Amino acid sequence: MLASGRGSNLQALIAARDAGQLPVDFVLVGSDKAGAGALDLARDAGIPTFTLNPKDFPSRQAYDFELFRRLDASGADMLVLAGFMRIIDGEALKPWVGRMVNIHPSLLPKYRGLHTHRRALEAGDAEHGASVHYVTAELDGGPVIAQARIAIQPGDDEHALAQRLLAHEHQLLPAVLRLVAAQRLALLPPDGVALDGRALAAPLQLRNGELVD
Ligand code: GAR
Repeated sequence: MLASGRGSNLQALIAARDAGQLPVDFVLVGSDKAGAGALDLARDAGIPTFTLNPKDFPSRQAYDFELFRRLDASGADMLVLAGFMRIIDGEALKPWVGRMVNIHPSLLPKYRGLHTHRRALEAGDAEHGASVHYVTAELDGGPVIAQARIAIQPGDDEHALAQRLLAHEHQLLPAVLRLVAAQRLALLPPDGVALDGRALAAPLQLRNGELVD
């Protein structure tokens, strides 16, 4: 797993595993920020961690190749990006396409990139949400596996909306990884997702904590 920030999604995954609801082992948590809360959470849970500072590398590609060298060495089957706030070089990530997912706080393809909550509010959207997608070379552009939707309420500001959505993210990511662990999901090149060998016509939707087709 890679994270740049507080790590509440990592915490939700660890909690799901501890509750017997997510049959995975966490082998490594990495960050570009030495002070990331995610690293503390990982250490507390006994998960090995590392930090790579971008300033120590001459280029993005050099950084990303070292990042993936470490991830390869961990023996991980799957890489989860949760709040990893860096664009990853397309060449470096190639060997991981199909084995790497990201959680993004918008209903993709809406609002790729930053400030998603603010942009949904400014657009006057009636709903907002989060997406888990396979990572490809296109920023926040890989095939979407599943989404959680919430209504935007009168009086919502950026903070309130982000906080309310986060609780749904904490269900969405474990639900997707349960499917990954059960080997029920696959990337269908170039831009599809297969569940149980069948192409999804649309992203799965989170309803009452469960993913529905
Ligand atoms: C989450 O809201 C996640 O969707 C978002 O960062 C937050 C990380 O929170 N990701 C992105 O914005 C990726 N572009 P966390 O550190 O508490 O898991």
